[in-house]
Amino acid sequence: MSIPILVAVAWPYASGSRHLGHLAGAYLPADVFARYQRLAGNRVLMVSGSDVHGTPITVRADAEGVTPAEIADRYHAEFVGDWERLGISWDLYTSTGTANHAVVTHDLFLTLLQNGHIDKRTSEQYFDVDAARFLPDRYIEGTCPHCGYTEARGDQCEDCGRTLDPDELVDPRSRITGTVPELRETEHFFLRLSDFGEELGGWLDTREGWRRHVLNFSRGWIEEGLQDRAITRDLEWGVDVPVDDLGPGKRIYVWFEAVIGYLSASKEWAQRQGDPEAWREWWEGDARSVYFIGKDNIPFHTIIWPGMLLGYGGLNLPTDVPANNYVTFKGGKASASRGVGLTIGEALGLFEADAIRYALAASLPEQSDTDISVEEIGRRVNEELVATWGNLVNRVLSMVHSTCGAEVPGPGSRTGDDLALLDRIDEALVRVGGQIDRVELRAGLRTGMEAAAAVNAYLNATEPWRLAKVDPERASVVLGTALAAVSGVRLALAPYLPFSSSALDDVLGELHAWRRIEPEPGTPVPKPTPLFLKVNLEELLADGADGGRGGTVG
Ligand code: MF3
Ligand code: ZN
Repeated sequence: MSIPILVAVAWPYASGSRHLGHLAGAYLPADVFARYQRLAGNRVLMVSGSDVHGTPITVRADAEGVTPAEIADRYHAEFVGDWERLGISWDLYTSTGTANHAVVTHDLFLTLLQNGHIDKRTSEQYFDVDAARFLPDRYIEGTCPHCGYTEARGDQCEDCGRTLDPDELVDPRSRITGTVPELRETEHFFLRLSDFGEELGGWLDTREGWRRHVLNFSRGWIEEGLQDRAITRDLEWGVDVPVDDLGPGKRIYVWFEAVIGYLSASKEWAQRQGDPEAWREWWEGDARSVYFIGKDNIPFHTIIWPGMLLGYGGLNLPTDVPANNYVTFKGGKASASRGVGLTIGEALGLFEADAIRYALAASLPEQSDTDISVEEIGRRVNEELVATWGNLVNRVLSMVHSTCGAEVPGPGSRTGDDLALLDRIDEALVRVGGQIDRVELRAGLRTGMEAAAAVNAYLNATEPWRLAKVDPERASVVLGTALAAVSGVRLALAPYLPFSSSALDDVLGELHAWRRIEPEPGTPVPKPTPLFLKVNLEELLADGADGGRGGTVG
């Protein structure tokens, strides 16, 4: 049965290059999941875009003396190039800077206002007297009240990941002038999140199969008591407020509108299809919606966005939010703003896209933080990807090329051992499918690689290179079986390794379903070229490719 599945992926701030931690946290897992679901015959809508508003962008623009639009355009273009080179298979990758996004944001805002879930309040905000302006979010820095990190920002502590309000910071200082700010009154709209505490708690209790850390964190938030949250800011950059009673100089808070991006992007996609109502298929009824994010984004996706959806009415809440933990880089938390860890562009300069995808998928931070480094990526590529899978494909294709007349042999009469191998591969495919469907992506990759190892073991047991000399007929059956098995393993790994998978299309056929296909007898099998390049680690490290930027925090 074909199910509509919304694959909703965190919107990266267009404020600087994204690094391998972001890729492993959200984009790669989402892509593996989406590619599998499409092959399994489900109707996938995978959307995201650049988050172009908020203080991450304006702080960067201030620092460079350029406009926020220039920063947003620069990094949006960079991200689009990154996704292309990594094979991230969006149905739509847009941005929060579109007219459509503002329209959809205004609709949410006005409906929530009308339904009584938004009200206007006077509150105190930090004000920089020297700069003569309010200091929202990242314009304030200070010490984190939870972990003591001294460079915590007004919206979040990068060290412990907690979301913060500026007035929680100990020893606050202005990021603009370094002075100690004073509190001044200012009017803002608030989302009455406290309206939804009970309903959200009940909803969370109905969630099945969620990661424990995501559920625990979300329940904890609700148990602490949901606070109403300001959803406008004293800023000149952002989506404008659709009612004019706050006066000038106010914009909608970036987090209120960024999460709406999932919906606005779905609507933009539908408009581009020429079927403006087509988005409903992924937002109503029994559609699944799976949100791929890093753990610092959890409350926005498991509480605030669901609360907004409840207040709006009629749209599905998330089916699952399989948030990832952090990837550390040689022991330090990868961080875009602190320059720790390889950027996606740097990584693509060192490794092939499938090599990066493999190494990250093998160490996804699904249950706890994981650590990566250039050495570790290189080791996994050489010792696992090349040794177990790349060499297997090469070995089988070379032997078919040289001993089967350079074409796919017919199946011949397969023995029990041959059929047992193919059964083993078919079982692995079912297993990988279940694992990916449950977003156990590391396990799915392991199952696929174990299937590759089973084909290697089969070849070592049957020795077709020896048979070729003494029993060519049997050699052809064995090689045909091995090729059929390789075809199955290639499918199992295809969601993880799309480039090397499609490099095999000519010999093994294009993939259309989550079912092993028998290679078509008679298909030409040219002399193969290696599926992956071996990494020369000594050379890489001698070039200083690890950037020497691992390590310490703070
Ligand atoms: N821009 C945020 C970040 O990089 C993520 C926003 S996810 C969204 O952390 F869904 F809210 F857009
Ligand atoms: Zn902290």
